[in-house]
Amino acid sequence: MNPQMLVDSASTVPLPAPWWFVEFFKVLGFTLHLAPMHLWFAGLLVAMMLRAGGGLHARTFSRRFAKQMPVLVAFGVNFGIVPLLFLQLAYYQFFYPATILMAWFWIAIVAILIPAYYGVYLYAFGLRDDDPAGPSAFRRWIGWGSAVMFIVIGFLFVNGLSLTSSVDAWPAVWKDHQVAGAATGTGLAAFYVPMVWPRWLMMFGLALETTAAWIVLDAAWFARRETDDYRRWAGRFAFGLAVVGAAWFAAAGSWYVFGTWPGPVRETMFAWPAMILTAITALSPGLPVVLLAMLTQRGFSRTAATIVAATQFGVLAINAVSRQVVQNLEIGKFTDLAGQTADIQWSPLILFLVIFALGAVVILWMVAQVVKAARST
Ligand code: HEM
Repeated sequence: MNPQMLVDSASTVPLPAPWWFVEFFKVLGFTLHLAPMHLWFAGLLVAMMLRAGGGLHARTFSRRFAKQMPVLVAFGVNFGIVPLLFLQLAYYQFFYPATILMAWFWIAIVAILIPAYYGVYLYAFGLRDDDPAGPSAFRRWIGWGSAVMFIVIGFLFVNGLSLTSSVDAWPAVWKDHQVAGAATGTGLAAFYVPMVWPRWLMMFGLALETTAAWIVLDAAWFARRETDDYRRWAGRFAFGLAVVGAAWFAAAGSWYVFGTWPGPVRETMFAWPAMILTAITALSPGLPVVLLAMLTQRGFSRTAATIVAATQFGVLAINAVSRQVVQNLEIGKFTDLAGQTADIQWSPLILFLVIFALGAVVILWMVAQVVKAARST
């Protein structure tokens, strides 16, 4: 079967916004989603491990982090809506068929996310600063359960997005999971698209590094009542975690690029000028590691911690740009994405921009309040 037959061709509605606008906000929204998402994807697991087997400072961090978790999930989930809007807008011909082929797994995200989200509330509400025994065994199980559920959700997202851009795999998935031609929605991309595994692992490695950046940012700005000794521990631990994260990213990334990228994508990404982007994407996770090494050597400071966090955010943005270029190359084989006609709908476009700006102001105000509250304790 020609995979092109499975690409949705029923709708030819023009884009309601210019192509550059769609791409810009898709990448920006994804970067904003990535930062908090990484903290529950890998960070929660790290926090649970530190709670189970760490010393005093490790347990202090674990408690602080768990208490922040409900807010971080709220931020990340809401930021996730932004790229979802633009994905549905400009890539619907690919996103919908792919997620229909794996419909039960895709819808399971909602069913898993709800208990995972409740779980972090239940776990966090069981934590008290003055309780050396820590949360009860029941609550600890809930915490572990949430950590595992977030990792599973991450896996399902990687499946969905990998299948969206792997149109060549669709016929096989459809053939194995259909009744009288109707897709049953029971095909999981991981069994058909080899890039799912390294991509999931790569995301996990990068998430460890983001967690490291968060540890120092939190210690610098929100942990005023913790001791200087705690801050020194935070710097050292964050450095170790970032080393592991960067090495993990490098290993999984090499598998992803050299083992699973389709030939034409690899040729383009290794040719001028895209090779610059490829090189920067591969090397950039080393920068936060170097900065964290300097932070541990020269002493902990707010400026140093903020630079580490800003650099990690830059690493995530570069990653999001590369990912978008690769997604466009893979899908570009089947349709001219940038050539889609646009009929600009000004009123929703302006409304989106105004709400986006207002949302950003509200978030900045909320963060400022948290810093103020931390300062006054
Ligand atoms: C219900 C709230 C969520 C929404 C609306 C959402 C939205 C999105 C969107 C739209 C993308 C793809 C962006 C793009 O291709 O431009 C994405 C990617 C991703 N999301 Fe979320 N997300 C949500 C929750 C989560 C949760 C709870 C996790 C768990 C860890 C997660 C993990 C991921 C991962 C790992 C990717 C990258 C997948 C890949 O391309 O390899 N997301 N998310």
